[in-house]
Parts: sequence; C-alpha cells; structure tokens
Amino acid sequence: MYNEKVLEVFANPKHVGVIENPDGDGTVGNATCGDIMRITLKIENDIIVDAKFQTFGCTAAIATSSTATDMIIGKTVDQALEVTNAKVVEELQGLPPQKMHCSVLAEEAIQEAIKDYKAKKNNQQSVSKETRFV
Ligand code: FES
Repeated sequence: MYNEKVLEVFANPKHVGVIENPDGDGTVGNATCGDIMRITLKIENDIIVDAKFQTFGCTAAIATSSTATDMIIGKTVDQALEVTNAKVVEELQGLPPQKMHCSVLAEEAIQEAIKDYKAKKNNQQSVSKETRFV
C-alpha cells in the first residue's frame, strides 16, 4: 500500500521526542481514527532551530510527522506555516488516497505549535511593556 520512501521514513523516523521547555507546543488529534500527534519547537529569533514529534498513529501519520519536522527546521515560523500537508506528501512521493487525511495531522500540529509560540511571545511582550511602565 505504501511506497518505499514512506516505509523507509516510517522505519527510521527523525526528530522523535519532546523538546524540554519548548517555545511552541501543539497537539492535535483525528477524532475518527483516534490518532494523536504532538510537535514541540525550539525557536530563536523567529527561526525554528529544532522540532520534535511524538505520534500515536499509523504508518502515514508517523512518516508525515518525521518529514514535516524535517522540513520546518531552519525555516522562519511564517515559512513553516506554508508547509502544507500536500507539500509533505509530495516530499514522501505520495500516499495512498485513503491515507491522505493522516497527513493533515502534521500540518495542523505545526500550526498549533506556532500558534502557541506566537501567543507566548505576545504575552512576554505585554509583560515586558508592563514592567517598563511600573
Ligand atoms: Fe489515523 Fe492515519 S489512520 S492518522
């Protein structure tokens, strides 16, 4: 069912784990199959310097998690938001049609992690502004 590239990434996934004290942390799930994906990010000056994932899911979910984290390292957060599930699937040279929905988890987990990063950053900025005026 899966091509060789997908099976190879599934057998040797990169960036597995959780970053301690991440700058961005996103967890998403697929209500239909029950699979869950968490992506944690280390970000410096809006550039993703490290990304790790934990996925409870199928072969496609794990292969897309590994590929998606690999694709966003070194990118700015805004560039990472452009890493869609279609681009991840392209990088994997395709997924079976019935497995396309699994790749959406990776895109959503990245978006959630970046949303978390931006929220934390905004909070820090408002705290530092408050501090300045006290
Ligand atoms: Fe649930 Fe693949 S079957 S993510």
